[in-house]
Amino acid sequence: MKLAIIGAGKVGGALGTAWARKAGHEVFFGVRDPTSEKTQSLLRALGGKARAGSPAEAAAFADIIVLSTPWPATEAAIRSMGSLKGKIILDATNPLAMGPDGLGLEIGHSISGGEKVQGWAAGASVYKTLNTTGFGGMAEPIFNGVKSVMFVAGDDDARKPKVIDLVGQLGFDAVDAGPLRAARLLEAHAMLWIHLALVRGLGRDWAFALVRR
Ligand SMILES: NC(=O)c1ccc[n+]([C@@H]2O[C@H](COP(=O)([O-])OP(=O)(O)OC[C@H]3O[C@@H](n4cnc5c(N)ncnc54)[C@H](OP(=O)(O)O)[C@@H]3O)[C@@H](O)[C@H]2O)c1
Repeated sequence: MKLAIIGAGKVGGALGTAWARKAGHEVFFGVRDPTSEKTQSLLRALGGKARAGSPAEAAAFADIIVLSTPWPATEAAIRSMGSLKGKIILDATNPLAMGPDGLGLEIGHSISGGEKVQGWAAGASVYKTLNTTGFGGMAEPIFNGVKSVMFVAGDDDARKPKVIDLVGQLGFDAVDAGPLRAARLLEAHAMLWIHLALVRGLGRDWAFALVRR
């Protein structure tokens, strides 16, 4: 599969590396400066299994686009890619902002980041996913033999199995959370991970799992 990963930071780097190495997908990182040492060392580590260019070049190459940009840069990054009609977008961002009580969600009750992304990417099928665990848990989603859970929320049910499969290839227990509106819940769920990790002292090396009877 041809994947564009917009933003090659902690999340983009972890996801691109995992998809290239574990599943053999062709990865194209869309970044502001493809020649930066950070991007070049990521490409070297992947030994020719990935390439880098502008976000627009990455989007033109791929059928599936993963957003892993800081929230304040996300709208501009999407708009810089031109028409995304017909593309599948996996939105791993969280609409974080500093507030009076510290880091929190900028929006959430009446609209989510995922729904905003859908508004900016007209004609694309947007799925909220890969936002509710740390980047280390994206690289290695299996903890002591237990798969961590990763929800997928999006309105295009026809293409959702493909997205669930792609998320599952990383090693997650990928679970359909319903329509894109459920991104409001998934972004709050991400905030719980951040709170437990950074405020409550759990650190980063853990994840949520879903148990069934
Ligand atoms: N860190 C986590 O554990 C985690 C977990 C779940 C979700 N998230 C979410 O994932 C997103 C990325 O987080 P991160 O920790 O990976 O951040 P990060 O390490 O700072 O990486 C962000 C990347 O986005 C790039 N970027 C910034 N503006 C851009 C633009 N206009 N076009 C293309 N690329 C651009 C940056 O490139 P430059 O080098 O050019 O600045 C950088 O490579 C955030 O929305 C975050 O909330 C993070």
